[in-house]
Order: sequence, then structure tokens, then C-alpha cells
Amino acid sequence: KRVHTEQLMETYRAHCLILPFPIQGHINPLLQFATRLQHQGTKITLVTTKFLFKTLQEASGSISVEAISDGYDEGANGVAAGIYLAMFRKCGSETLTELILKLHDLGCPVDCIVYDAFLPWCLDVAKSLGLRGAVFFTQSCAVNNIYYHAHKGCLKLPLEETEVDIPGLPPLLASDLPSFISDYASYPAIYQLVVHDQMENIEEADWIFFNTFYKLEEEVNDWMAKILPVKTIGPAIPSMYLEKSLEDDKHYGLNLFKSMTKACMSWLNERSVSSVVYVAFGSLAELNAEQMEELAWGLRKSNYYFLWVVRESESNKLPKDFLEESSDKGLIISWCPQLEVLAHESMGCFITHCGWNSTLEALSLGVPIIAMPQWTDQSTNAKFVMDIWKTGIKALPDENGIVRRNVISQCISLVMDKKKGQEISQNAKKWKDLARQAFDEGGSSDANIKDFVSKLV
Ligand code: UDX
Repeated sequence: KRVHTEQLMETYRAHCLILPFPIQGHINPLLQFATRLQHQGTKITLVTTKFLFKTLQEASGSISVEAISDGYDEGANGVAAGIYLAMFRKCGSETLTELILKLHDLGCPVDCIVYDAFLPWCLDVAKSLGLRGAVFFTQSCAVNNIYYHAHKGCLKLPLEETEVDIPGLPPLLASDLPSFISDYASYPAIYQLVVHDQMENIEEADWIFFNTFYKLEEEVNDWMAKILPVKTIGPAIPSMYLEKSLEDDKHYGLNLFKSMTKACMSWLNERSVSSVVYVAFGSLAELNAEQMEELAWGLRKSNYYFLWVVRESESNKLPKDFLEESSDKGLIISWCPQLEVLAHESMGCFITHCGWNSTLEALSLGVPIIAMPQWTDQSTNAKFVMDIWKTGIKALPDENGIVRRNVISQCISLVMDKKKGQEISQNAKKWKDLARQAFDEGGSSDANIKDFVSKLV
């Protein structure tokens, strides 16, 4: 039984634990969702691994943070995905249960667990303690729909047809599907996670949240909503970027890499409006040395200013003479405040791997995209960017899978050209406006969040 003290009842309406999967692309959207819930009067406790506890505590402002164990309290570098996930399930279930009981004893009982879909065992913990559970998917509705169909056995693997028909989605080529489907045999542990584990108990969750906004994925969302009570709550980015400043969320955001904010923002401040090509591939993707070289010389060839994020671990792949030869046109940094960069008036276009966060951020800030998908859900996101939302183009690889320098510089010329890139820019502006509307009073995401909060008590 839940026991609220009078004093606690006065200060907040309900208490939610929020559990992101501990990687960059999953923590930030859940942190932003946490901020929104807190703003609506919900008490939030973010729960992360012991290894990330301090880092998250520094990034989460007024939101409290607690730690559980994934079994690798000193870090899990080099541990195989399948082993890590099994260990996290075991140690996480035990330590999450202990944490909830501890909070109860401290007079701070939990009402609901909002958990990353990559941590489906959180729902078992919630149910075993009589709590409610809300699953949060960090990927697009389209991608979730593909995984759901695969889970239900409606996609026969390996794929035989070149074109796949999935309800709610446009016809997709095998190459438009997530790599964990099109090339599933190469990723057995992640295939198991995304297709089976994250869907295993979805029907038992009390709420199902997608980090997207309704208008962006209307058709597929309507289709999924016929089967499951899915709700869109995105884009989960700080509200200051949606021109609706909430006091509390201005500075929140986690960087698992050291950001070179000052150097990068002062360089951008020197550039004129819409003049810069921003290049970044998120926190995980690794380009091979040949692709890095083609990209480098493609950027140079385009002759536009460019800001390129090359993570420290990737920097040895840059061509030797490139830094010197391009210093008049480009700045290479190891990590930047991406939202601040995308919101900067100098932004012309974004060469991206199309990770879902980067895609959603570019759409929400009206930045045209040049898509260079690498793996996971990125091909599907790139397909939608080019053919459905029409806010960018895909840079096509050759038969060896490499996007050549000429293709890169041609794509840049097209998107950056005022006339040729006009339709893309107009569409980018349209989606930016629609993202804002989703968060205006009564907008789809705003309404879904308020509805959730109202049902928590
Ligand atoms: C991963 C997967 O690769 C992606 O496909 C999936 O949809 C989510 O998880 P990641 O590869 O890191 O994420 O890409 P992405 O989803 O784009 O997330 C990267 C995040 O890091 C974004 O929020 C972006 O703003 C941030 N970032 C990136 C920075 O803050 N600074 C940088 O320099 C680069």
C-alpha cells in the first residue's frame, strides 16, 4: 500500500521513476520527458547505472537521481551485447526492487515507472510491487511498427521480397529497413532485444509513449493506435528550442563526451546566415577510413563552411593533410552542443547518420538534411526524410557502400542552393512549425503528457 505523508502530498501530485537505457541517444530524450513531467507537478527520480550516476546527476539540474546496478559498476566496455543485457536484467531487477522499497520506507513512495523499451523487465518489477508502468520508445513510430510486425511473425526473415509491405507504412525496400532486420544475422543479441524483448510485454504496459509527434507520423501512428494504446509525446527536446521556455529545463542535457562548446559557438558566430554545413554522426556510428576520406574531400570540394564533429576515437581516420588544407573553411571538433548548433542562424544543412534524435532535432529546428545512414534504424529514418517528409536527400553510396566525394559535394550544392533547395527548405520550415504546434497548449504531445499526469494520481 502507498503511504503519502501530508507534506509530500502538498508538494507533488505523484512520483515517477524514469529509467533510460544508459547510452547517449536514450538518456537525453528520457531526461527531457522527465523535465516535462516535473514541470506538470510530478515528482521525478531518474534512475541510472552506478557507473553513470555522477555524470547524470551533474546534468539533471533539480531532478533527483538514484542508481541501480547493471552488474558492471566500473563500466561495461568490451562486454558483448547479449551478456550485458542479460546481466542488466538480473542485477537491474534486484536493485530496482530494493530502490523502490527504500523510497517507500523513506516516505517517498513510487506511483509509476517510466522505462526505456530496452529495459522491458522494469515492467515486471513494477507489476510485482503493484505499481503502474509506462514504456518509452526512443525510436520513430515507423521503426517501432516494423519491429512489432517482425515480433508478431509478419516479416519472414531473411527477407525474400525486394519490397516489403507493412500496414501503416509506405512500401519499403529491404535496404530501407533497420539493419537489425535487413541484416539480422549479424546482430543476434540486438535483434533479440529490439524485435522480441522490447515487444515481449508491451500489451501489459499501462502507457506506451513514442518520442515523435502526431503529425509527423500520422498514418503509422493511427495504424498502431488501432492495436495498442500508443501516445506521441515528442519531440523530447528542451522547450526553449520549441520557443516555449519552461524555467526548469534550460540547461538540462547530458553529454557523455566532452563538449567544445566555446570554440564551436564562437566560430559559428562569425559565419553568415544559412552558410554552414554541419556534419555529425551521433555517439556510436563508426565510419571506415575510406568513407572518412571521401567525406573530408567532399566537404572541401563543396567549398562551403563546415563544422564537423569527429569523436576522439574516430580522429585517427582523418586524412593526414586535411586539417591544414581545410582550416580556412572548416572547424573539426570532438563534440558540440548539437541543439544549440542546429538552432544557430548560420545553419545551412546537416549531414547526419539519421539517428532518431538527430533526425527529430533537425526536423524540429527546420534544418535541411543530407542523410548518410550507417546502421540500426537510420536507413528507415533516412527514407522518411527524403521521400515522406521531403526535408532532405540521401547521399547514395556506390556498390562498395561508400558515398563518394563527388556525390557528397553535389548533395551539398543542391541543398544549399537557394533555388534548387527551395522545396526542401520550405518543407523543413513546415515540420518545424508542426513540431511547435504539438507542444502548444492543447497540441497533441502537450495533451498526451497532461493526460498521463492527470491519470497518475
Ligand atoms: C543511437 C542510434 O544510433 C540511433 O540510430 C537511435 O535512433 C538512437 O540511439 P546515436 O547514434 O547516438 O543514437 O544518434 P542520435 O539518436 O542522433 O543521438 C545522438 C545525440 O547526441 C543527439 O541528441 C545529439 O544532439 C547529441 N549530440 C551529437 C551532441 O549533443 N553533440 C554532438 O556533437 C553529437
